[in-house]
Amino acid sequence: MKKTAIAGAVIMCASTFCPALQQSDRGSQVTRDPIVTELQDSDAFFQTATRAPRPARDNSRRVESLLQRMTLEEKVGQMTQLEIGMVTTGKDQGIQIDSAKLEKAVIKYGVGSILNVKDQALPIEKWHDIIRKIQEASQRNRLKIPVIYGIDSIHGANYVRGSTLFPQEIGMAATWNPALMQRVAEITAVETRAAGIPWTFSPVLDLGRQPLWPRFYETFGEDPYLAKVLAAAFVRGIEGDDISSPNHIATSLKHYVGYSFPLNGRDRTTSWIPENYLREYFLPTFAAGVKAGARTVMVNSAEINGIPGHINHHILTDILRGELGFQGVVVSDWEDIKKLVSQWKVAADEKEATRLSVLAGIDMSMVPSDYTFSDLLIQLVKEGRVPMSRIDEAVRRVLRLKFDLGLFENPTLMAPMASLGTAESRQVSLQAARESLTLLKNEKNLLPLTKDRKVLVTGPTANSLISLNNGWTYVWQGNNADLYPKDRPTVLQAIQAKVGKNVTYVPGTTLDKELDIPAAVRAARDADVAIVCLGEGSYCETPGNITDLTLDEAQLKLAEAIEATGKPVVLVLVEGRPRVINRIVDRAGSILMAYNPSNEGGTAIADVLFGDYTPSGKLPFTYPRTANGFINYDHKLFETEETSFGNTAFKPQFEFGHGLSYTTFSYSDLKLAQKTMPMNGQLNVNVTVTNTGQRSGKETVVLYVRDVVATVVPPGKRVKRFAKIYLEPAQSRTLTFTLGRDDLSFIGSNNKSMVEPGDFEVIVGNLKDKFTLGPGEQTQRRRERLSRR
Ligand code: BGC
Repeated sequence: MKKTAIAGAVIMCASTFCPALQQSDRGSQVTRDPIVTELQDSDAFFQTATRAPRPARDNSRRVESLLQRMTLEEKVGQMTQLEIGMVTTGKDQGIQIDSAKLEKAVIKYGVGSILNVKDQALPIEKWHDIIRKIQEASQRNRLKIPVIYGIDSIHGANYVRGSTLFPQEIGMAATWNPALMQRVAEITAVETRAAGIPWTFSPVLDLGRQPLWPRFYETFGEDPYLAKVLAAAFVRGIEGDDISSPNHIATSLKHYVGYSFPLNGRDRTTSWIPENYLREYFLPTFAAGVKAGARTVMVNSAEINGIPGHINHHILTDILRGELGFQGVVVSDWEDIKKLVSQWKVAADEKEATRLSVLAGIDMSMVPSDYTFSDLLIQLVKEGRVPMSRIDEAVRRVLRLKFDLGLFENPTLMAPMASLGTAESRQVSLQAARESLTLLKNEKNLLPLTKDRKVLVTGPTANSLISLNNGWTYVWQGNNADLYPKDRPTVLQAIQAKVGKNVTYVPGTTLDKELDIPAAVRAARDADVAIVCLGEGSYCETPGNITDLTLDEAQLKLAEAIEATGKPVVLVLVEGRPRVINRIVDRAGSILMAYNPSNEGGTAIADVLFGDYTPSGKLPFTYPRTANGFINYDHKLFETEETSFGNTAFKPQFEFGHGLSYTTFSYSDLKLAQKTMPMNGQLNVNVTVTNTGQRSGKETVVLYVRDVVATVVPPGKRVKRFAKIYLEPAQSRTLTFTLGRDDLSFIGSNNKSMVEPGDFEVIVGNLKDKFTLGPGEQTQRRRERLSRR
């Protein structure tokens, strides 16, 4: 029997799909969400999330005294990170610590860090056994320096069996709910620490501006402002105020920087990003993460402008340390020092690659499967080609991280086992999944469906937990069906649980092959409505490369055939990137974008389809209409002008920020406090939002600013603030946002932030107003005095 706590009550659940998690949320019951956000101002949230963490105990004297006692070999050991296979034998659940291997890694080489799972997520007891044995070995070392274990907890503690999984980052972005993001991150931290692991390689702070990229779903979407608020929430949730607490762990901001914008869309390939755009778009999330206190940063595996991330001194040292003030550990990505030779050809051999990357600013190398890094770096120092001061700097950072995490006091510090996979965490995951779901189209209010209708469920993602989760789920590629929990419903099972015998299921196709489309068509003719679940399977990194964003032909054919029956069609898109669907949009009555909502996603989707939850997600990216027609929302104005471009003007399928509800909201009374804003002043913007429909619901209010004329071609608009509010029918709320000089700045062609006086537009919903940014307070006052005369 499971225990489920909802709104203070404890409900016992004996059934497979706990009904307590499925009961009706009609109307005001939305308030029962465990995290009800009345986020009135994203900026206030951001300021709180990036406030300086409580000063940790100052461990610098302990660090220095330890450093002074270390040999070169011991120091280089601390800079070395190996994968778990280097200390274990066996496969899958049969994995065991191999004492001879462990002795070599931890005693002989004194490696500072070990990472990841070998094959698949492990039960918590197994993790305890592995971590304990590794730390026992570390305590037999001369200086007893604990090993720091690191893992990819990407959407929850996904490599710990029984943990709570959450929507992938792209879905979290669609919630526009940073408080929820922070709570999700807190749970991820506890559940990772419960396994004895104090370090996660998350969040991904690459911007999702290239939808072909197979890691698109790992991002917070295309907008730097939304992504930076969520970045701060993620870091604050994982690290809290004190990373030595058993409830918190260290983050790693990745992949610093510019990894997500490959020219050809494939993973780990070339980007061209001029520095002003790098700073304008790709840097702010990392700056926010650093400001929120992040302890480590992982480096971009690819190259930008011809310089691989791992040897880019300007980015790793001048900008990260010099400008952003980062003081933590910079870790390489997987095997990336070797790839400087094998892939990027910027070094003739591994020794030179090691030298270049350590001098550029790498503190720890994810080697990960041999000892070359240690051997070569020792040689380089002995030959005087890498100064001891650089080694000391890196080791100091690694030691400080370990001290601050409390590993010296307790190398196996753990959160209680009981904190894993609790009912409360599951409820948070359900809320996150529900809030992420984005209603893209709803003609004639086809949705919500009444529960008495005969429903056909079809399509390859209808009965797949793998599609609901995507990569980084129990295994790297997320594709081992046996490891998924048996008590979490797929979309089909959740619909069956809700409407019982009125459901027929015919798969129709696999992800890329026709099975029996005519059978699905026959079933559609017999049904009142067809729910067609399309999208993608699971993938991540290079295996997820594609060359065409268009949804697979078999799936398009299935949808077309069902639409041709004339029955109402609801498309449900379960996908990590926006696959092009223009052939099937017009004849679909409703389209629900689900992203990868994870294990509670089936329930959440059924709740929205049948009206037990009112959707509130908004697209965190622009949904392209054609495979070659991709454009971001903050494009230059002329690019979408049909007057200039006719049919070739860019016209997205669905705009960034788009998302419908079962209720309606109207915007009124956009009021700017002044028509001019002094250069260093502030401007209050008020807007009133009213729920004009029949149901209660949540609305994300987004404030955009357009710089009318600027010396660097200005984008049509940029997000500057948002709020997420809950309104009962007929209820209104007036929001006040305060804009300052920084909100009007941009990166000039000299790569510096600048603000230019002149006109700006404020856009909220369908409302617009204008103000002028004055040249300076004194001039402003003088002008005002003059105009009064
Ligand atoms: C990925 C990183 C990940 C690392 C360790 C790499 O291939 O790029 O995001 O943290 O592997 O699993």
